[in-house]
Amino acid sequence: MKKIVKAFVFLGIIYLPTIGIAQDKDPKMKPFIDGLMQKMTLEEKIGQLNLPSVGFDVTGPIVSKDVEESIKKGLVGGVFNTFTPIAVRKLQEMAVKQTRLKIPLLFGYDVIHGHRTIFPIPLGLAASWDLNLIERTARAAADEASADGLNWTFSPMVDIARDPRWGRVSEGAGEDPWLGSQIARAMIKGYQGDDLMKNNTIMACIKHFALYGAAEAGRDYNTVDMSRVKMFNEYLPPYKAAVQAGAGSVMTSFNEIDGIPASGNKWLLTDLLRKQWGFNGMIVTDYTAINEMMQHGMGDELKVGELALNAGVDMDMVGEIFLKHGVDLVKSGRVSQAQVDAACRRMLEAKYKLGLFNDPYRYISDERNKSQLMSADKLQLSKEAAIKSMVLLKNSNQTLPLNSNQKIAFIGPLVKNQRDLIGNWSGAGDWKQATSVWNSLEQKYGIDHFLYAKGCNLVDDSLLRNKLNPHGAEIVPDEKSPQQLIDEALITAQQADVVVAVLGESFGMSGEAASRSVIGLLDNQVDLLKALKKTGKPIVLVLMNGRPLTLQWEERNMDAILETWFAGTKAGSAITDVLFGAANPSGKITMTFPRSIGQIPIYYNSKNTGRPFDINQKYTSKYLDAANDPLYPFGYGLSYTSFAYGDIALNTSSINPFQKITASVKISNTGKLDGEEIVQLYIRDMVGSITRPVKELKSFQKVFIKAGESKNIVFTISNDDLKFYDSNLKYASELGDFKVFIGSNSRDVKEAFFKLTK
Ligand code: NOJ
Repeated sequence: MKKIVKAFVFLGIIYLPTIGIAQDKDPKMKPFIDGLMQKMTLEEKIGQLNLPSVGFDVTGPIVSKDVEESIKKGLVGGVFNTFTPIAVRKLQEMAVKQTRLKIPLLFGYDVIHGHRTIFPIPLGLAASWDLNLIERTARAAADEASADGLNWTFSPMVDIARDPRWGRVSEGAGEDPWLGSQIARAMIKGYQGDDLMKNNTIMACIKHFALYGAAEAGRDYNTVDMSRVKMFNEYLPPYKAAVQAGAGSVMTSFNEIDGIPASGNKWLLTDLLRKQWGFNGMIVTDYTAINEMMQHGMGDELKVGELALNAGVDMDMVGEIFLKHGVDLVKSGRVSQAQVDAACRRMLEAKYKLGLFNDPYRYISDERNKSQLMSADKLQLSKEAAIKSMVLLKNSNQTLPLNSNQKIAFIGPLVKNQRDLIGNWSGAGDWKQATSVWNSLEQKYGIDHFLYAKGCNLVDDSLLRNKLNPHGAEIVPDEKSPQQLIDEALITAQQADVVVAVLGESFGMSGEAASRSVIGLLDNQVDLLKALKKTGKPIVLVLMNGRPLTLQWEERNMDAILETWFAGTKAGSAITDVLFGAANPSGKITMTFPRSIGQIPIYYNSKNTGRPFDINQKYTSKYLDAANDPLYPFGYGLSYTSFAYGDIALNTSSINPFQKITASVKISNTGKLDGEEIVQLYIRDMVGSITRPVKELKSFQKVFIKAGESKNIVFTISNDDLKFYDSNLKYASELGDFKVFIGSNSRDVKEAFFKLTK
C-alpha cells in the first residue's frame, strides 16, 4: 500500500512532508549505504565531505593542494570546475579504480544560464515570465552539462534581491517571492527532470541559503539582519519552494543570519531546512565559507569546523576545514560520530540517487558530448529565450520597430561586441561563438547596409577597467581619444534617419563581487548620448546590462529604450529580430528600476507606513528631492502593440476560507500588431494582525492576443493566496477585507474588493 505522508502542524509551525526525488523511495538505497558505511573509516567518511576545486576557473583562493593524491586516498567526495569527458573520466577513474572503497565522485559546476549554449542571464530569463521556457533552458543546460561529464549544478540562485547595487541580482529572478518561487520550481524541474538517475539529468543546488540578497547597502558579502516575519514572508519562500520541488542539494550563503553565519547556523540548516521543511538532500557550503567564519569572528579553525558540522553542513567547499580537523573534532567529542555519519550518508545518498554507484561513468559519453553541445535546437532555444527576455522600456511615436529601408546608424561599443553578450557566470560558454548585433545585421541585411561608429569606449575609467580586465573583460581603450570617437559618431549620426545606440555594462560589472554604488550608464556613455541627442535624430537606446539601471535622463531624452540584458549566445540575432519587428517584445521587469540610487531599496510590495505620501501634507513619507515612485515599476514592459484592460468582474463579493473567488477581466489588443501580454494579479490584505504589503503578486497569465481582438482572462483566488506568517510565524489567512488588482504591471492596475468571512 502506498504510504501517504502528510504535513503536520506543531506549535503553529507547518512541518512539510519530504517530497524528494524518485530515488528517495528506492528500498535498496538504505541497505546499500549501510553496508558501505560499515566498511568506511572515520577518515574516509570525512573525505566524502570534501569538495575541492580542480581546474579551469575559481572564484576565490585555491586552497586545495594535490587534489589528485587526496582523491586516491579516498579523501575527496566530489570536485568542481572540471568538465569534458576526458577530464572527468580521468578523475573518476582515480576514484573508482585507485581508492580502497571505489566510491565515485560528484562533479559540480556553476551551470547558471546554460552550459555551452548560453541563455540570457537569470534576471533576463525571469523577465520572460515564461515558466515553460525557463524550465526548457534549465533542461537544455542539464543536457549539455551531463554530456560534458557533470552531474551537479550550483543553480538556481533564488535569493530575493531588492537592491540593484548588488551585482548578483543578475543571477536571480528579481524581487518577488511568489514569482521567484515559481521560477525556482521550473528550474529544479528542468535540471533534475523526474528521474535523477537518467544520464541527462543533473542534481540542482538551491543557493544561497539564506537571505544572501539582503546584503546591507548592496555590497557583496555584507551583513544581513532581518526580522523573522520579513524572512518568512518575503525572503524564504523561493528556497522553500525549491525544496518542495525536490532539489537534491542546498548551498549555504556567505552572510550571517541572526548574527550567526549561515554555514554555522543550526537553526537555519537543521531546525528550519531539515526539520520544518523536510529537506533530505545534502548541504554544501559556499566557497571557503567555513573558513570565513573566522573572519566573521566565530573562532579558530577547530571552532568553525565544529560549528559547521553541528549546524548540519555536509560538504565543505574548497576550505578543507573538515578534512583537516574532522577526525580530531570527533575524537575530542566536539562533534559526534553520528553527526559525521549523517553527513557522510547524505553525500552517499546523493551519489546513489544520481546512479553513480551503478555506473560511475554514467555522465561521460563522447557520443552525447558531440550530439548535445550547442546543438541546433539549443541555439534556437537560446534565440527564443533572448527574444522573450527583452523588455521594451520606452517607445514614443512608435520609433520601434525599425524599417530596414531607413538609413540607420548603429553606434556604441557594444554594437560589434561579442565578449560581453553571454554575461557573467556563463560557465563553459564561449563568447567567441556569440553573435554580435553587427554580425546579425550583416547576415540579415548585407554588408554596408547600415552605418556604424563606435562612439565611445565601453569603459573609459581606467580604475574600473583595471578591476575588470584581470577577470576577462578585455576592454582595450581605443587609439582615438574620447572626443574623436564622439565626433566620428556625430558625423555618422548626421547621415542617418535614426540612431541605434547600443550601450550598457561590461559583463563583469554585475555578478559576484561586482557591487556598484552608482548604477547609471557610465559617464562616457552618457556623454555620447548627450552629443547624439543634439543631432535631433530619433535615438533608440539598446541596453545590455545585468541589473536595473538608473535611467532618468535616458527616459526623458531617448525615443525608445530596449532592455536586452546579457542575452546569451544568440543575442545579436534576437536583438535584430526585435528591432526590426520580426518579433514583438513582451518581457516585463522583475526588479524595480529606481529613479536614483537614493531610493534604494525600492520594491513594489512595500508597506504603507503610518504616513503614506500625501502631496498636501508635509509630514508624510517622502523625499524632498525625488519622487517616491520608481522610474519603471515591477512588472513593467511595453509591446509594439497596446493592450486595454476592462474592469474587474468578481463572481462574488465574499468567500469563506473553503471557497474560491474568480476575478475576470477583458483585455483587448488595441494596436496594429499581434502580441503577448503578461496579465498580473495582485492582492492587498487591508487589515492584518501585522502590517501587510500594499500589493503582492499572486498570479499571472501570459496571453497572446491578435491585433484588434480581445480575451477574457479569468483568475481563481483561494484561501491559500491570502495566507501569510503572523508575528508567531503561524501561516494562515485572516478574515477581513481584501483588494484585488489586475493590470499590466504593479502600478497600472484595475481594482476590486472582496471579503474573507467565516
Ligand atoms: C561562490 C559563489 O557565491 C557561488 O554562487 C558559486 O556557486 C561558488 N562560488 C562556486 O563557484
